[in-house]
Amino acid sequence: MTSFDFFHLHGPGRPNVRLPRDYLRRSGWVPRIGDIFPDFAAPTTQGPLDFHAWAEGSWTVLFGQPGAFTPVCTTELAGFARAEADFTALGAKLIGLVPDEMDDVTGWIADISQVLGDEVRFPMIADADGTLARSFAMLCPGDSGATPIRKTVLIDPALRIRMILDYPARVGRSTVEMLRLLDAFRAQDSLDVATPCDWTPGGDYLVPSGMDRDEATALFGDDWIELRPYLRVVNATVLDPARRPPCALRPPAPGDGDGD
Ligand code: BEZ
Repeated sequence: MTSFDFFHLHGPGRPNVRLPRDYLRRSGWVPRIGDIFPDFAAPTTQGPLDFHAWAEGSWTVLFGQPGAFTPVCTTELAGFARAEADFTALGAKLIGLVPDEMDDVTGWIADISQVLGDEVRFPMIADADGTLARSFAMLCPGDSGATPIRKTVLIDPALRIRMILDYPARVGRSTVEMLRLLDAFRAQDSLDVATPCDWTPGGDYLVPSGMDRDEATALFGDDWIELRPYLRVVNATVLDPARRPPCALRPPAPGDGDGD
């Protein structure tokens, strides 16, 4: 059995947690949901880029990758390139980050065009010395040694981090899931709703936790139902009464139905 040098978290209110002692040596900023993403300047395949100036005002999908000319990364970069128009349609820009020299990144992009036929038109950051990967907490030695993992950060138009996903080096991401997340955030921001497990666009929403009945009625009219005081469902088409089908979870009103 592997042996670890543990220490205990002590003190009032501290849980009884044992942590490997080398965790104590970790320090520095780790991206968290709700943080403003830090500004940085970097060379990219589209020229020098100042991140805040480039990103402010639209959604950003920043995806860090382990490295150029590797199998999973190649399929991911091609996949993001193929889906770019779908991201643009949701008001989102793509930007990738790899720990490689610029010549390698541009050569890799040219190769992807030849092998898979996908054109990468969004900027890829050449983070040759790994400074940005380290700054954005993309190093997980327990997974991939000195190679960065796959980190995705969704950043809103006000530069606030809304979502962070860490994937290990050997598992490729899903562009479908990134698009679904963007759809969910856009619904949340425009309608003040929450989205349930496995929600996809067009599905019913949830009244967010903490919103009372009066607030729900003021926002959603009679287009919501209460299954429990802690579980209230909003009809998906609440914004478009003309196309409003019956809410799947609303009990049928008297007289509704197939003529009976
Ligand atoms: C890959 O893209 O397949 C990969 C890259 C670096 C480490 C492990 C896998």
